[in-house]
Amino acid sequence: MALARVAEAVGTPAYVYATAAIGAAYRAFEAALDGLPAAVCYSVKANSSLAVIRTLSDLGAGADVVSEGELRRALAAGVPARRIVFAGCGKTRAELAAALDAGILQINVESEPELKALSELAAERGVTAPVALRVNPDVDAETHDHIATGRKQNKFGIDIALAPRIFAEARGLPGIALEGLAVHIGSQLTGIEPFRTAFRRLARLTEALRAEGHAIHRLDLGGGIGIRYHDEEPPSLADYAAVVRETVGGLGCELVFEPGRLLVGNAGILLSRVLYVKGEGRRFVIVDAAMNDLLRPSMYGAYHEILPVRAPATEAPLVPVEVVGPVCETGDWLATGRSLPPLEGGDLLAICGAGAYGSVMASTYNTRLPAPEVLVNGPAFAVVRARPSYDQLLAQETLPAWLDAPAASRGAA
Ligand code: LLP
Repeated sequence: MALARVAEAVGTPAYVYATAAIGAAYRAFEAALDGLPAAVCYSVKANSSLAVIRTLSDLGAGADVVSEGELRRALAAGVPARRIVFAGCGKTRAELAAALDAGILQINVESEPELKALSELAAERGVTAPVALRVNPDVDAETHDHIATGRKQNKFGIDIALAPRIFAEARGLPGIALEGLAVHIGSQLTGIEPFRTAFRRLARLTEALRAEGHAIHRLDLGGGIGIRYHDEEPPSLADYAAVVRETVGGLGCELVFEPGRLLVGNAGILLSRVLYVKGEGRRFVIVDAAMNDLLRPSMYGAYHEILPVRAPATEAPLVPVEVVGPVCETGDWLATGRSLPPLEGGDLLAICGAGAYGSVMASTYNTRLPAPEVLVNGPAFAVVRARPSYDQLLAQETLPAWLDAPAASRGAA
């Protein structure tokens, strides 16, 4: 795709996603799981653009949502309710009610009080909530601390040791059909062993619960499969699928997968233009994208490949630079100590691996306008979320009555 053409049409910074890359990632995952009774529920939090959800839903994906907002997005994008699972450790009663009313496939419950609240809501409605218990298997995912979710000290899930007691108690709860288990031990996993350990523990628990007479029909194995941003070596999909087969494949359960990053991470870039280059010693390339657009480098020290859109004319020597944005924080960087060809104001850059946890984590910090999102499909592209105007941004705010009177009557200086 001629990115210069996109920049011309929509301006920068802008997120650009490739339909072909999303399709390729989805098909590769589906192919790896071939023969397994698998439902792929795309983790909408990674990139919740309606167009991206619709693209994946058209390929056969369901959705994994973590809020009423995401539930509404998935439904609006056309995902059938029967293909939606609802995860998250702090669902409100209103969110649980919305999930029940929509008739989704499964609600992943993460605490006893949540289970009780759901029971009350379901009983009030005269329905039965399809529930999976999300257990915390106490496994170190060996990933960044902020995105490891499966250790005892993390807030997610219920201690796996407590599961039998909760299943026993749930028998007496009206409106609850507790017939599944869920795990998700973290994101951007680059090793296979943590998956193996977690899935084994899940299999053992399944057998223990069945021995006590509980029906376990569905196992939700979460997401978390890492992708290559730089020099990581994530497990191959074949290895991942082999671990699934080996650990839980023989239990006769329907399997749910919640991949997010894997499907969209490398299908998107953040397109940005160089504003200025300065500094003799430390060289700063100041671009028009910033931490408010792509938070991952400042939040996790994440590496995102940066490529000049126009290849450098000659074999120009690489220069070590800091790629930074205009936000008033020293931590506002997109790359540090990065070797790039010589750049000057006006050059376009593709900040790669920005399809997952990019736009969704953006803010308007420094009152910067949200970057638009563009979906490319073959030779065509379309703006799927426009850049709002400053007027639209400011229109979301109001002044309270006591500040809205003429300045003189407020006693303003
Ligand atoms: N299922 C559950 C219950 C999750 O919590 C997550 C991600 C996923 C599935 C999808 O995980 P994935 O396949 O994308 O790894 N903002 C961070 C990532 C946070 C992930 C949160 N949970 C980042 O930029 O790296």
